[in-house]
Amino acid sequence: MTIRELQRLGRQIFSESASRELQNTIHLDVDLIILEVLLSPNMGSCGEIAPSKDISWLYARLDEPVSDKQLQSAKSLFLRRSRGEPFAYLISRKEFFGRNFLVSKNVLIPRPETELLVERALENIDCILEKRHCLVLELGVGSGCVIISILLELMSRRGLSVGELCNSNAYSFVGVDVSQKAIDVARQNASMFKVDKFVEFKLGSCFEPIESLSARFSSILVVSNPPYIALDEQLPLSVGGFEPEVALRAGKEGLDIIAEIIGGLRSFSLKEKTVLLMEMGYSQRSQVEGILVEKGFDDFDFLKDLAGLERMLELRFN
Ligand SMILES: C[S@@+](CC[C@H](N)C(=O)[O-])C[C@H]1O[C@@H](n2cnc3c(N)ncnc32)[C@H](O)[C@@H]1O
Repeated sequence: MTIRELQRLGRQIFSESASRELQNTIHLDVDLIILEVLLSPNMGSCGEIAPSKDISWLYARLDEPVSDKQLQSAKSLFLRRSRGEPFAYLISRKEFFGRNFLVSKNVLIPRPETELLVERALENIDCILEKRHCLVLELGVGSGCVIISILLELMSRRGLSVGELCNSNAYSFVGVDVSQKAIDVARQNASMFKVDKFVEFKLGSCFEPIESLSARFSSILVVSNPPYIALDEQLPLSVGGFEPEVALRAGKEGLDIIAEIIGGLRSFSLKEKTVLLMEMGYSQRSQVEGILVEKGFDDFDFLKDLAGLERMLELRFN
């Protein structure tokens, strides 16, 4: 079978079984799957992104043959994708902040809008927080893409090795999640980027597994992209049908974990200069503001993402 024939087979499988959501992108999905199958021995890896071939490379080779093994892999991926499974789960990786992270069905697929958390974290570390004994704590670490990106970006912007950054006692990195399976993925990513000795992962809910840590630090940066979707909100099949419920939903109004984090901040951070950066739903501003006022916080802003939606809380205190 040639690549051209494989394309036809893929389009046929998709047109027979793809959901309406996918009908508009059949050609692209088929081509990306074929590209993945043909190149996976070279590019099916995570880590720093290497220059790779694109769809024009595929179109220059339409009459070349595919092996039986490639045909079987492609068929299985066509079927999974046509049933709505996100592309990132098929290829076990997703790009975030310029790097490829390993993902599995046990973690949320990193979203581009969450890169704002990393950008603001770096700005806060540079301008607001103490340059020594700073704890960077992520609540709801998932694949680890956020905390690992912060660490790697700090290293590259300062021209330091990870040992120089962390051994000097300047920074400590801790990631928490309620899902052991998510922590396993985060650890794999940390090890892939060779920072596993410098990020500690803890199992538990929000601040609970780390209560005794804060006294050792002079400043604390808490970052979080918590689950914030309401219980009855309809989600597209690719999200609601495949991504972990615990990473998406948080009680009746989607505010349970946001409230737990804001509520736990004061007793966690006693006198340290503290910044909380937290992603939230674009329509949750007034409810989040209500929680902040109730807890006695007054120094905060809501930041907009590239689409102009208020997606992030930035809170400072002490
Ligand atoms: C929206 S995902 C974010 C994952 C990753 N940080 C990212 O941005 O791609 C939320 C994560 O929070 C975790 N989580 C849910 N409830 C939690 C809780 N009470 N305490 C800590 N983590 C929680 C989920 O398991 C999930 O990994």
